[in-house]
Amino acid sequence: MVEQSYPVQKEWNAINIPDGTRFEKDHFPLSRNYKAYIDYVLISEGFLRDRIDRMAQNIYAEYRDKGQLDILVIMNSAFKFFTDLLSAINKLSEGDFAKGDEERLKIRVRYCKITTQHLNLGVVDIEKIHVPVTKEEIIGKNILVVEDIFDSGSTIIKTRDVLKEYEPGTLKFAILFHKKNLKNLKHNFFGDFVGFIIPDVFVIGYGMDYNEYYRDLNHLCVINQEGIEHFKQ
Ligand code: HPA
Ligand code: MG
Repeated sequence: MVEQSYPVQKEWNAINIPDGTRFEKDHFPLSRNYKAYIDYVLISEGFLRDRIDRMAQNIYAEYRDKGQLDILVIMNSAFKFFTDLLSAINKLSEGDFAKGDEERLKIRVRYCKITTQHLNLGVVDIEKIHVPVTKEEIIGKNILVVEDIFDSGSTIIKTRDVLKEYEPGTLKFAILFHKKNLKNLKHNFFGDFVGFIIPDVFVIGYGMDYNEYYRDLNHLCVINQEGIEHFKQ
């Protein structure tokens, strides 16, 4: 059987990491306790940060004249991406302030813990996804949802559908990784600000976990079989 390849669109404004990309873990600073459980590095921390700085420029350009931006951060894994993104946005807005802008873009941040029910590993029951926001928080606002990864797509699609019903002024999505998972094609979705398009492999690090481990790993990596066994619940 010929494997179907993921149809990356030309107009998608993100860095495409080709399938098969792998960097030798010995070439990067990695703590010894994690090193044994990592197969390879997919995207190093420095590369991630540069891309996030650029995403911050795109996001700031979009909202700087809109007065207020309401950010909805999807917890838990997006914490790392969000922290780096927000400090990059802040630097830009402080730069404008230093140049004489009287008013800084007002940013409001809300954390949103979306509860999901997993049917199988990686398969989410979309009906059981709960997005804890109220219409008053959303209506008329410029909402930017910040999420780490678009994988099977269920969480983001459900979130989008719930938020749309609450009539935001604008609704956009900043997503660090768009995974080439064939299952998500049915949603016909690509974020408004996307960092990287990545191969369909299970990734860890930069906030993302395997059973809550590896969130503190600085690089985006791929776990090995020993890691899967070692950190099994
Ligand atoms: N890694 C960690 N968490 C995730 C992933 C992944 O590849 N996809 C969705 N959540
Ligand atoms: Mg997780």
